[in-house]
Amino acid sequence: MNNYSELLEKELLSYIPGAHPLTATLTKSMIYSLTAGGKRIRPMLAFEFAKLCGGCIENVMPFACAVEMIHTYSLIHDDLPCMDNDDLRRGKPTNHKVFGEAAALLGGSGLLTLAFETVLSEKAVKRNGYEKCVLAGRVLAECAGVDGMLGGQIIDLESENKSVTAEHLQIMDDKKTGALITAACLMGCISAGADQEQMNAARNYAANIGLVFQIVDDILDVTSSTEALGKPVGSDRENHKSTYVSLLGIEQCRAIANEKTNLAVESLSAFGGDTAALADFAVYLRDRNK
Ligand code: IPE
Ligand code: IPE
Ligand code: MG
Ligand code: MG
Ligand code: MG
Repeated sequence: MNNYSELLEKELLSYIPGAHPLTATLTKSMIYSLTAGGKRIRPMLAFEFAKLCGGCIENVMPFACAVEMIHTYSLIHDDLPCMDNDDLRRGKPTNHKVFGEAAALLGGSGLLTLAFETVLSEKAVKRNGYEKCVLAGRVLAECAGVDGMLGGQIIDLESENKSVTAEHLQIMDDKKTGALITAACLMGCISAGADQEQMNAARNYAANIGLVFQIVDDILDVTSSTEALGKPVGSDRENHKSTYVSLLGIEQCRAIANEKTNLAVESLSAFGGDTAALADFAVYLRDRNK
């Protein structure tokens, strides 16, 4: 990822519209969160799937930027007082702490809109053609919307202070976190012109690592430190969130993460090329400590 992060950040900024002086607060809010760091795992997945299916970084780059924009918007809104009410994100004060709630709401919405501008941009069309841009835009919209991240977020909020089943939690996590990870993997495939079998395998990989990603996020909320994560630990308990950790405890969560990571790695066998990077990545996501 280190090889690409500079390139990614440059390209992310290239899509921010030139601000009229009267709209500068909005673009500042968008740029603040977009350039605050973050692990960039979704762009990385788009890059790796594109490479695996015979595509290239330059072509998939606008799609990778778009999914990172949606992810960043989801974090800005997730941190708002009406949602998780957190003050620190990516090691910096959250967007609403710096710009106020209204500008954070608008900055997040700005990034959501910009994501689709980016997928449909001249640059994206020149590199990928209209058809792939439409397919990528469709996948991104589905994964960000009611059946994806947004749906997961409402389940998350409505599960606070409740006792829910493991099945309920899986649906919640698949949507709130798995969906954007799925979008990233599929957009990588689409940019490279992957076939249906490859797309199905990518979906399978993404569903498994997506669930592991959220389970580990929930574990780290208990076991890690604010310094390491760059966001407040203990937020889930404070908000009485229903998570795998609150339902099953850490040990059982680690066993599930292990099992799902193995399934993710197995699903890579459907690809002909060198899948070592994606296999390593699944293991890294399971074992990460931030
Ligand atoms: C945090 O995502 C939100 C979840 C889906 C758990 P990341 O852990 O990928 O956040 P950044 O991008 O690295 O800040
Ligand atoms: C967030 O889940 C998932 C999103 C869609 C943003 P969390 O609420 O657990 O994410 P963090 O812990 O605040 O990053
Ligand atoms: Mg949340
Ligand atoms: Mg949160
Ligand atoms: Mg969390």
